[in-house]
Amino acid sequence: MQKNKMTMKDLAQELGLSISVVSRVLSGKAGQYRISDKTRVAVRAAAKRHGFTPNQLARGLRLRKSHTIGLLIPDISNNFFSDVARSVEISARHRGYSIILCNTEESEAIERTSLELLLARKVDGVIVAPVAESGDCGHLLALLNDNVPIVLLDRFFPGAGLPHVTSDNVRGGYDGAQHLLKCGHRRIGFIQGIPNAQTNIDRLAGYRAALQEFGVEFDPQLVVGHDFGEQNGHHSALTLLGQSHPPTALFVTSSVGALGAMRACVEIGRKIPDEVSIIGFDEYPYAALLSPPLTTIAQQTTLMGQAVCDLLITWLESGEIPERRDVVLPTNLVPRVSVKNLAAQPLSA
Ligand code: RIB
Repeated sequence: MQKNKMTMKDLAQELGLSISVVSRVLSGKAGQYRISDKTRVAVRAAAKRHGFTPNQLARGLRLRKSHTIGLLIPDISNNFFSDVARSVEISARHRGYSIILCNTEESEAIERTSLELLLARKVDGVIVAPVAESGDCGHLLALLNDNVPIVLLDRFFPGAGLPHVTSDNVRGGYDGAQHLLKCGHRRIGFIQGIPNAQTNIDRLAGYRAALQEFGVEFDPQLVVGHDFGEQNGHHSALTLLGQSHPPTALFVTSSVGALGAMRACVEIGRKIPDEVSIIGFDEYPYAALLSPPLTTIAQQTTLMGQAVCDLLITWLESGEIPERRDVVLPTNLVPRVSVKNLAAQPLSA
């Protein structure tokens, strides 16, 4: 007689849980019912151990086309993400798919709950710009292992095997710092974003590479900050400019962070660019209208949205994870007025 397949009831009995708890965990509704992480892990582990395919939902995803894609972004108020989200939505609509957008508020807990909600809504696949605060991508790998089509956007996890579309942030960080170094700056403050986010790690690496190329020693005291927000830019700028030997330039790793740094300069009466130069990261719709217009490193948000949408839909329609899993787009320096060229000799009278 064929060995009885493990049933949901068996699983529940083994774990000492109700069938409804087990079912809710396996159908991605644990967050909705405030089931603890500990219980979720125990249920998934037992299901995996007994070959009780937890990915029955994933099988449903493969069989049942909802023509809906889940899109998770960490901060809808940040124009980088809203620009990319708009491009994803337009691209998806052109291919006959609709989007369910989740704003995760730079919170990994909300990211996990949002993913469970999207799976419960039986989306065909997900595009995730991860929060990446802890650097842990286990919850995303679990989806990949459950054969859920998932593609990362912007922030990613090197070597994890999770397909992704991002910018060449090392080059972007290098170009931003090199621009300041070519303009004669030698003490350059670096206002960083989420330390574990790969976009931040890569920008910092590019900044350090440019310093090294110009023979400028890296000073860790000049690296300040903990997220990509406006408040972080403001607070970090005050910290750096309050140093006994303050930097002559600030490299800020986000557009909204650069606005915060500019606000700090106005508050303490530091003139931009005469007394402090500022370069941001990400184009900002009004950067050219700011006083002074903001120099920045722009990412190709429209192309990024198109590429990540294409990568996922190709996967959905072929049923196979794409061979070419990673797309890296070039950034470009947009020089404006917020950087002073210290190297330029004043025009003789
Ligand atoms: O502004 C948010 C930043 O975080 C962007 O530069 C984007 O690359 C993301 O990583």
